Amino acid sequence: MNTGKTPILLVFTLLAALGGGAGRAAAAPLAPVALRCEYRVNPSGIDETAPRLSWQVTSQQRDERQSAWEVLVAGTEAALAHGDGDFWDSGKVSGDDTTAIVYGGRVLASGEVCHWKARVWDKDGKASDWSEPAVWTMGLLHQNEWRGEWIGYDKMRQAATLTAPLVGTKHTPLLLPPPPCLRTEFNVSKKVQRATLYATALGLVDFHLNGQLVSEDRFTPGWTDYTKRVHYRAYEVTKLLRQGRNALGAILADGWYSGYVAWGQKRDRYGEKPRLRAQLQIDYADGSHDIIASGPDWKAATGAIESADFLMGETFDARLAQKWTEPGFDDGKWDAVVTGAEMEPLLQAHPGPPVRAFAELEPKSITQVRPGVYVFDLGQNFAGVARLKIKGQPGQKITLRFAERLNPDGSIYTSNLRSAMAIDTYICHGRGTETWEPRFTYHGFQYVEVTGLKSRPSKQTITGVALSSATTEAGKFECSDPMLNRLARNTYWTQRANFMDVPTDCPQRDERLGWMGDAQVYIGAAALHEDAQAFFTKWLVDVEDGQREDGEYPKVAPLIAGEDDGGPAWADAGVICPWTIYDVYGDRRILEKHYKSMARFIEFCKKRSTPDLLPPEKFHCYGDWLNINDDTPKPVVGTAYFAWSTKLMARMAAALGKTEDAVMYNDLFERIKAAFNRAYVGPDGRIEGNTQTDYVLALSFDLLDAGRQKQAAQWLVENIEQRDWHLSTGFIGTKSLMLTLAGIGRNDVAWRLIHNDTFPSWGFSIRHGATSIWERWDGWTPEKGFQDPKMNSFAHYSFGAVYQWMVENIGGIQSDGPAYKHILIAPQPDDKLTFADTTYDSIHGPIETHWRKVGRHFRLKVTIPANTTATVVMPAADVSSVFESGRRVEKAPGVKVLRWPRVLAEFEVASGTYDFETK
Ligand code: BGC
Repeated sequence: MNTGKTPILLVFTLLAALGGGAGRAAAAPLAPVALRCEYRVNPSGIDETAPRLSWQVTSQQRDERQSAWEVLVAGTEAALAHGDGDFWDSGKVSGDDTTAIVYGGRVLASGEVCHWKARVWDKDGKASDWSEPAVWTMGLLHQNEWRGEWIGYDKMRQAATLTAPLVGTKHTPLLLPPPPCLRTEFNVSKKVQRATLYATALGLVDFHLNGQLVSEDRFTPGWTDYTKRVHYRAYEVTKLLRQGRNALGAILADGWYSGYVAWGQKRDRYGEKPRLRAQLQIDYADGSHDIIASGPDWKAATGAIESADFLMGETFDARLAQKWTEPGFDDGKWDAVVTGAEMEPLLQAHPGPPVRAFAELEPKSITQVRPGVYVFDLGQNFAGVARLKIKGQPGQKITLRFAERLNPDGSIYTSNLRSAMAIDTYICHGRGTETWEPRFTYHGFQYVEVTGLKSRPSKQTITGVALSSATTEAGKFECSDPMLNRLARNTYWTQRANFMDVPTDCPQRDERLGWMGDAQVYIGAAALHEDAQAFFTKWLVDVEDGQREDGEYPKVAPLIAGEDDGGPAWADAGVICPWTIYDVYGDRRILEKHYKSMARFIEFCKKRSTPDLLPPEKFHCYGDWLNINDDTPKPVVGTAYFAWSTKLMARMAAALGKTEDAVMYNDLFERIKAAFNRAYVGPDGRIEGNTQTDYVLALSFDLLDAGRQKQAAQWLVENIEQRDWHLSTGFIGTKSLMLTLAGIGRNDVAWRLIHNDTFPSWGFSIRHGATSIWERWDGWTPEKGFQDPKMNSFAHYSFGAVYQWMVENIGGIQSDGPAYKHILIAPQPDDKLTFADTTYDSIHGPIETHWRKVGRHFRLKVTIPANTTATVVMPAADVSSVFESGRRVEKAPGVKVLRWPRVLAEFEVASGTYDFETK
């Protein structure tokens, strides 16, 4: 009982010590937060019938962990609030699991809304409060529940003449038909409880309900191999419905399905007749339902969008805009839609994030390069569109062209776009201020050229709208060297530019494909910037869909015709990416799902090999793509990757408890390793080719025994030294070059490479104005200018793989085993840096390091999430010189001194925030 005598200050201190706010003093200091279902926040329309739930636990106190958990899932918010888990009450379950908690309640039906919450018990068995409620909804679980038919409008495609290109002569005539508008009207006469629109397309679709865009998502339903499957989205639209007359309208663009995709001015790669399929499920308060389904009663016409194509751009004539998505619009002159599709793919819920706008960029400058030709510099190379804001005359035509770089005369450099025309055109209606941004195209650009203006533009004329798959931010990095900060940002922006429903190679030229090699090279770095789990969950299905009969994985996923032989390092993405997702997030289901497919791939590699497990005489291999005069022999690359994928297979088999398989794959790995050594490694440890990538592959793939490892390490450093301490690696060598140097204890060399700003280096591109990661080290040089425009992207992420080294070695944050359950904190500062702040929001919660260096004085603040532990390695002469929060480190709660070699002090720490200092 509070006698009223306790000094207020003491009460506050006690509450603070308990980690709770007012009124929560009784709860455990551990709280469940960040609830997710299938690794997404409140996902709508999932079709996983045993979804995985997860959360993070947080605590203000050190040494906290979860001893038990409980989940409640209910059919209504009210039931959940009353603690009635009518779908599932897990009861109290012992254990520290916070991820992949498989829903174990009653069978879930299509369209069901599942409200849920969790509570946890701390290490002393004290229960937390219930978490904030979260929700997920089920999609359409059975194909036969699709009442909507495929509908489209082909008339204007037949009528569309071959459109001449707007500029230049190198473009052959293009077919750019207008995307049709399709509509229906319906009545609502009862109180609506909930309305959900299920929507998909062979093409791209934007739905409008009563004049409102249904969702901010772009490029719905995303890109898959449409011959096999197409995804749908479920949108909650209850608030958009009205009593009485309602109108549902959709714009259907060609997109990946039938627009121009990749090189060769080739369109219709999957089909020629775009279609949409949709149904609006209306649940009334009285328990009855209505379904408004796409079907032959819908009407179609063309609208204000004259053309829309990913590569070619979009044209909008505002004079033709009408209110056709509103009820009461007279569609008497519209045509009937056509029904039926060219293919019958499986319809599945999209398991990943949608593409959305995530940033807006203001112009840094506007230059008039020729009379009437204005170039806007948005200051950052990115992928997306430009929003135009203008007061124009009726019929005034504004043309926007896009580029990543400028020519020496200040005009835009577009030759590297190859046949991607990348032109957006807006024709003004002429009434007041007009604002427009396209919906069915995107470009990779930093500069926008605007022509057709009648007066000088302002900075408001153009806004950059950056688009990307809406992954959640997971990391941040900042240090005392602006060049390294720029490098980190460049990798981030290049990732966002290329995560466009699939991980693409580039966002600007006529390519933009899900290149497998690039994805496996970069995936480790990707996960440190953004939560990539659901994004890769989606793409790995595309990968498996693209697998050949004989087990080989393709070059690109989703597959496009003729690109089905990935070859070493590209095909291996089919094994390396699932492994990485498991390693970073502890996702076993992704391994289970693709295990058979991966096993088939290993079998393929084995069959393709000679009896002594070496590559055949002839095989497709890109090698160490875009290296600098240091070409690694393709058989070395081929054998090394065969070995590595096999090793990962062994690890994955072990993780899944498939012990026999693990033994079998380990044995195969040992045999490939032996073959590798016999065929390519000399007695002095020299590897055939003697390239940097040779040694990087051999060391990082564990292909050498201890003695030869030492020699190889020496040859790697020798090669770098001979190039005056420069790298020479292409895509696959660069992936692990820095991590390998760290691994062999030569971060001193890694530091030299990362501080370089002479060719070839990351710093070189930054010195020459790079705001993104270039495809090639010599994309532009002062001596030669631009590289061959046939292949010269300024937004390819492979060389950005270095971000992983930065987080792990400058920030010093590494996972020690799967999923950051045990963490290694070991920043390895060099003399040039004075501070670094690094954060990584792991699946178990945020990890942070902040270090400062003044002379020999080193201070490190570390945060380790509750329910995890870490080893912290401090650069200190001995343990007696290390203090934590002002006291001798041996006395610090939560810290256990492990050992103290001469230059390092190593501690085991429990969760919490620590302030280490060397004195
Ligand atoms: C792409 C790549 C890809 C490569 C294959 C290029 O055209 O842009 O990034 O990996 O081809 O080597």
